Amino acid sequence: MSFVDILLEEHRQFATMLGVLEALARRVAAGDEVPLDVLSDVLEFFDRFAAQHHDREEQLLFPFLAGHGIGPDQTAVHALRAQHEAGRVYNAKLRGEFRQLAAGEAGAAAALAQTLGAFSELIREHLRIEDEYFYALADQVLTPAEHERILRQLERAANDPAARQARQRYLRMLATYPAMVAAWDPGR
Ligand SMILES: [Fe+2]
Ligand SMILES: [Fe+2]
Repeated sequence: MSFVDILLEEHRQFATMLGVLEALARRVAAGDEVPLDVLSDVLEFFDRFAAQHHDREEQLLFPFLAGHGIGPDQTAVHALRAQHEAGRVYNAKLRGEFRQLAAGEAGAAAALAQTLGAFSELIREHLRIEDEYFYALADQVLTPAEHERILRQLERAANDPAARQARQRYLRMLATYPAMVAAWDPGR
């Protein structure tokens, strides 16, 4: 297994959870009742699990690529970093708007629905760039020794007891939430 396979598998998990997030956003926008515990879990998924993924790309992958001339001043790396940063800003904004929705504040649903839509668009575009272009480039330019070092560090990070526990929780969400939201919009 290559480190790229690990990151791509996480992307597939993000895409699955984006489907859940988009179904929640449609309900919020329509003014339908939304299970707040599920919405909170999905926001946590993107706030923690997806954010860790972005951090690991920045700390483990980007420095090696910089050694091959693909540094922060390159358009692709610059764009990806900017998207990671925008994602962090959105995560904080979503948390705040979620709290307002839970408190029953007027206008909270419309604001949250709009931010959820923009966030989802951002992450889908980010995954598209990495899936279709950036990871293939990384795969190509890195040496076998660099591939091995990145893989080792990803495995070490994944074996941390707290990370393992959180991962089990996210896997349970991935195993249950897609079917739950599919039942809301049959035929979609
Ligand atoms: Fe990624
Ligand atoms: Fe990324």
